[in-house]
This record gives sequence, C-alpha cells and structure tokens, in this order.
Amino acid sequence: MKGIILAGGNGSRLYPITQGISKQLLPVYDKPMIYYPLSVLMLTNIKDVLLISNTEYIHLFENLLGDGKRLGMKIHYKIQEKPRGLADAFILGEEFIGEDDVCLILGDNVFYGQGFVDKLVKASKNNKGATIFGYYLNNPSDFGVVEFDDKGKVVSLEEKPEKPKSHYAIPGLYFYDNSVIKRAKKLKPSARGELEITDLNRDYLGEGRLYVELLGRGFAWLDTGTYDGLADASDFVKTIQKRTGLYVACIEEIAYKNGWISEEELKNIGIQYQKTEYGKYILSLISDKRREK
Ligand code: G1P
Repeated sequence: MKGIILAGGNGSRLYPITQGISKQLLPVYDKPMIYYPLSVLMLTNIKDVLLISNTEYIHLFENLLGDGKRLGMKIHYKIQEKPRGLADAFILGEEFIGEDDVCLILGDNVFYGQGFVDKLVKASKNNKGATIFGYYLNNPSDFGVVEFDDKGKVVSLEEKPEKPKSHYAIPGLYFYDNSVIKRAKKLKPSARGELEITDLNRDYLGEGRLYVELLGRGFAWLDTGTYDGLADASDFVKTIQKRTGLYVACIEEIAYKNGWISEEELKNIGIQYQKTEYGKYILSLISDKRREK
C-alpha cells in the first residue's frame, strides 16, 4: 500500500501566522504538524509516501524530510499548482500509486487513541473498496458528515452541510483500493471548484463498497485549523507526553520499532537532537526494553 499526504492550501484561517509559511509546518507542541499524519502512515506500515504541496512550500517539506532514507522510507514530492480538491491527489499521484492500494491523509489532521493501529491495519487490508472513519462532534458542519440508519448502515454522505443529519464528521484519513484513480478522474468539480472527496466516497457507497469505522469517545481527532485549535492540540500533546513519558508521533521511534532503521541510525539522530527533550527521548529508546508497546 502507498501513502499520500496532502499538505496544500494557503492556511487563510490562520493568517497572519501562515502568511509566510505552510500551515502543515507549524509546530504542534514540539514537532512540525506534518509529523503527525506521517506517523499515522508509518503506523499503518506504509513506507512509500507521496507528499503533495504547492509550489511555494514544497521545498520546505523536502528540507525537513528529504528522500525519507533517514527513516528507512521513500518520500516523493509533487506540486499541486492550484487547490483542486482532495480527490485531485489521486490524479496527481497516479504514477506513484501504480497498481497499489492507497491511503490518503491530510497534512493537518492529528489523531491519538487506544486501538488506532489495529484499525489502521484492518483498513489497509480491505482491498475491495474504501474505508473511511466517523468521529462524533458536537457540530460537524465544517466537515464531511456521514449518516447511518438504525443498523449502522451508511445512508448519506454530505460535504459541510448547514444542517448535518448526524453528529459524525469524517476525518481526513481515507483508505482506497486501486480503482480510486479512475473514480477520481470521473469526478466533476463542485460549486467551490474542487474535486470533492465526499463525491468520491459516494461513488463507493453507490456500489456498496464503502466501509465506515467509528472512532469512539476515548479517541482524539484534533483540529489544527484555528488559533485555538492549534494551541489546544499543542497542549494535548504536551499533557500526554509529560504524563506518560511516551511521545506522540515521534517518527524516528516508529521507524526504529518498525525495523526500518537500526539502533545505530536512531542513535545518530538522537545525538543530532540531543540538546532537546525530543533528542533525549530518542536516545532513551536505545536498548530500552521497558517501553510500552
Ligand atoms: C476536508 C474534506 C472534509 C473532511 C475534512 C477533514 O475538508 O472535504 O470532508 O471532513 O477535510 O479534515 P477541507 O479541509 O477541505 O475543509
């Protein structure tokens, strides 16, 4: 399975912070925002990743992550000239995806919770359709919304409805079989001029090939799109890390535990970062058998 991170947009809801920098490079506590979605792909065991951003910012991501070798991964880059919508990722990524299935994650989505890896692995093994997620929100109007019947069967999908038919928002994490490429090519731009992921998901729904996994109340899907959302996400990560001593989205830790980099390679990164708590954490992982799995 391949992975795509979409890190485009102009971050206008965060101006002036994002006037001169990509939103997905802003810090969420102690690491760049993009580490969080990248860590989700890594936890899904996806080694081959395409990062899509706009012309202005693509080189900043390359500076940060390079070709991925440092993490035992392959990271490729592609420019999205105009914000043509989430589903455009599969058209831009056609060659990269090749014959494989693909997982798309948005560069500003932060997830944290018990049992997440099992859900990711399960979704990645469904190669007969699409798997998306549902997350209960007080007001899901700013998102895609999924409605169920009494038996839990999906009845409707709507993009940013004024009057949502349910409380379940659809987070920016989607698993698709290879037919996603041809489905994305068939889509027509919406009223806002974008190829909507919700239209793509409706296509799967129409054929009975859309699976929705609920992320329960013990789960955190955080918003990083507003001043308060960003500050709250930072506080959340800080609280969890200080309390448990275990890091959220430490990509080097995941690469090491996945067996993608050696102890030696991990140590070298730790030494490079050793002036920080982050670097000290990396060094503490070496030969540490006590760590929580
Ligand atoms: C996009 C999708 C929406 C989804 C959201 C998740 O919204 O269109 O369905 O719920 O991401 O972050 P956008 O970021 O384009 O507002």
